[in-house]
Amino acid sequence: PGFVSTPSETSLNLEKVELIELRARGRFGSVWKAQLLNELVAVKIFPLQDKQSWLTEQEIYNLPQMNHENVLKFIASEKRGENLHIELWLLTEFHEHGSLYDYLKGHVLTWSQLCKIGESMALGLAFLHDEIPATAVHGSKPAVAHRDFKSKNVLLKSDLTACIADFGLALKFEPGKGPGETHGLVGTRRYMAPEVLEGAICFNRDAFLRIDMYACGLVLWELLSRCNAAEGPVEEYQLPFENIPEIGQHPTLESMQEYVVSRKMRPPMHEHWKRHPGIMSLVCTVEECWDQDAEARLSAGCVQERIAAFARTFNM
Ligand code: ADE
Repeated sequence: PGFVSTPSETSLNLEKVELIELRARGRFGSVWKAQLLNELVAVKIFPLQDKQSWLTEQEIYNLPQMNHENVLKFIASEKRGENLHIELWLLTEFHEHGSLYDYLKGHVLTWSQLCKIGESMALGLAFLHDEIPATAVHGSKPAVAHRDFKSKNVLLKSDLTACIADFGLALKFEPGKGPGETHGLVGTRRYMAPEVLEGAICFNRDAFLRIDMYACGLVLWELLSRCNAAEGPVEEYQLPFENIPEIGQHPTLESMQEYVVSRKMRPPMHEHWKRHPGIMSLVCTVEECWDQDAEARLSAGCVQERIAAFARTFNM
């Protein structure tokens, strides 16, 4: 016990892990800043009842060719303790800034920071969504839908590029196979696409990727809402739809259905944003991500290319 196999086939003695500080508490357990030998690592501790989420997350990290700068790096996993005291651990790289949500609460962004975060996040999502063919030495990477995309699940590295985390609800799509067993209504209510809130059940691969793109639109709006490039006030950070009293901090399914499905409402785009040409272009891109018509939404690759082009064109 204490020794697990990592993707590089080395053994790590996880008894040497020292938990330092609790950094985040999520639906599936808590995340600690920890030390392993001379390195800081993040340890996510799942309660035993969330075993499926721990297993799914490892399965996704261990897919062939799953290495990407904009996807959180997996280190190891372990079952700790025994009987009633079992804990499920998942070790990953640690990023001091924490999540994009944490960062936006405390910081305002410049135009170039907004572009850097937005582009790297879209690149990570495009990588996840893409199928990559097998090579001489590696198997193929299937398309993966995240299914809980939100600003708390995007981490910021020290250079302010993004990496995507939290694959406990992710689904992989092996060519020629259906997605494994799935129930439709998963994820975080606030970020659920209209078709998910409506209870549509029969989703194929592309439908799941489009559901991620709706959520990606909301996260891009969160970036816009904290950017100081346009002349005008930058308001305190709020989650998408937090300003609507019936939704606030604790969205119910009914309130989300009323606003997002029936009234087709989306977070507000401020008038003064439209006077900055770069911000204006991004506003249009965000609106194409959260379109009511899922088939009209942009792909992650297209969002990444567009943001790269805005960053070059409006280089300030
Ligand atoms: N919060 C959640 N995961 C984290 C990580 N890997 N590093 C820092 N903060 C986190």
